[in-house]
Amino acid sequence: MLKLSEKFRGRDFLTLQDFSRADLHVFIAAARELKARQKAGEPHRLLAGKTLGMIFAKSSTRTRVAFEVGIYQLGGAGLFLSERDIQLGRGESIADTARVLSRMLDGIMIRTFSHSEVEALARHAAIPVINGLTDYLHPTQVLADLMTVEEHKGRIAGLKLAYIGDGNNVAHSLLLGCSITGMDIALACPEGYEPQAAIVQTALANAAAGGSRVSIGHDPLAAAREADVLYTDVWAGMGQEEEAAKRQEAFKGYCLDTALLKAARPDAIVLHCLPAHKGEEITAEVFEGSQSVVFDEAENRLHAHKAVMALLM
Ligand code: CP
Ligand code: NVA
Repeated sequence: MLKLSEKFRGRDFLTLQDFSRADLHVFIAAARELKARQKAGEPHRLLAGKTLGMIFAKSSTRTRVAFEVGIYQLGGAGLFLSERDIQLGRGESIADTARVLSRMLDGIMIRTFSHSEVEALARHAAIPVINGLTDYLHPTQVLADLMTVEEHKGRIAGLKLAYIGDGNNVAHSLLLGCSITGMDIALACPEGYEPQAAIVQTALANAAAGGSRVSIGHDPLAAAREADVLYTDVWAGMGQEEEAAKRQEAFKGYCLDTALLKAARPDAIVLHCLPAHKGEEITAEVFEGSQSVVFDEAENRLHAHKAVMALLM
């Protein structure tokens, strides 16, 4: 039977900043091991009898399916809890919800708007809480992204990732994930859509300690130059629907197209957390092109989430 590190048992997974470079490599190695076992058809029922509750206040395809299928493959059960249907959506407090769920479940995954709500849930819960996306961060996404980079490039430290677009939750987690693991990260965002200053400061401190670089600019071509990984995300995320028209204007020119691909290294890979709006943040040509590994990346959500659950729960 596969034996995983006990170091993270009982911990939460709210932000990558809670983990060191060595820690993130433990998660990635576990994800790759679990992927190999699943592909080989070898049982890996590390969470037999355990249940994960999954609270969703926002839509999801990948995160929901990856956690639900993942816990099932680990021998446990997943419980989908739409915020519309549970009492939390009718005003029951986070603290009470956390204490009730802690009596019945072995772990909670939550996708919601406010990051502080997730932190409050974790404070009041006696079981691990996993951040499945907030307006601020998307750490399980970036864990799968780092795993995908390692699979395709054989390493992470010393590479360069260029992110073109909104300084959003995914960009925030990429800033942390890259700077912790020693990958250079260059962002190109429209003016007014830069990542939050506190995240940039943290990433700069991580990078200074770990020997990599962080740059925030407005020129996609400059960011893409010599990149090993090109990354983009939607111009308007969940909860920003009413800003969509304004963002369409602001983000013109922030499209991952063949010109940016040409500026990157010839063997660069293209990532996108998905869902994608082809013709906006990425051209159909780049999305469907030979350098795009977006579906490997999406699949790796399954393996990465399994690693998170198996290590924490
Ligand atoms: N990338 C991602 O989190 O996808 P979903 O919104 O479909 O979960
Ligand atoms: N930035 C996007 C990511 C979706 C997975 C959003 O928050 O909607």
